[in-house]
Formats: sequence, C-alpha cells, structure tokens
Amino acid sequence: MKRVDTKQCLAHVLVCVNERDNPAMPCCHEAQGDEVYERLRRWAAARGLLARIWITRSGCLGWCHREGTTLVIYPEGVWYRGVKPDDLDAIIAQHLQALVPTQET
Ligand code: FES
Repeated sequence: MKRVDTKQCLAHVLVCVNERDNPAMPCCHEAQGDEVYERLRRWAAARGLLARIWITRSGCLGWCHREGTTLVIYPEGVWYRGVKPDDLDAIIAQHLQALVPTQET
C-alpha cells in the first residue's frame, strides 16, 4: 500500500452519475448527472486545472433526487442535491472560482 500525495489537489468534487435499473427510484443519471460532470470538467480543463481540481464521477451518494444530481465538494465538505447544469455557475462562483490562479498582467 502507498499513500497518495494530494498536496496538489485544491478541491475534489464528486458528482453522482448513478444509473438505476428500477425506474421507480430516482437516479442521478436520469437527472443530468453526466451533463453536470462534463460541464464541470470542461470548466476546469479550460483553466488548466484538471490536475488541481479533481472532478470524479461517483455512484449513489444517498441523496437521490429526480430534479438534478447530487454533488459534494471537498475539503469544504459541502453537499448539494437536485443540481442541474444551470446551477453550476453559482456553485463554481461560490466554491471553485477563488481557486483559479490570477493572471499577472
Ligand atoms: S443516485 Fe445519485 S445520490 Fe443516489
């Protein structure tokens, strides 16, 4: 076993993309989880931050909702449920934007 060096990680975002076989149960795959994941990845990639802001697809996080996916942001330990792609601007502004290095002019 070897411990993983996480010093370069500024934040870790887990996005539920869980897909259920039972249509009677809500699942984040049906609630735009994959789109939320992809949009977050594109945001981080456009800023060269994929190695520093880790964005990971997850299985069920236990807060299933039909209106949107569940995501959690560490190290803050902030959880959201019912997240839709249009919610990402506010989540990024509140939790991730400050992690983007400022450009020297
Ligand atoms: S299926 Fe996403 S939180 Fe349960």
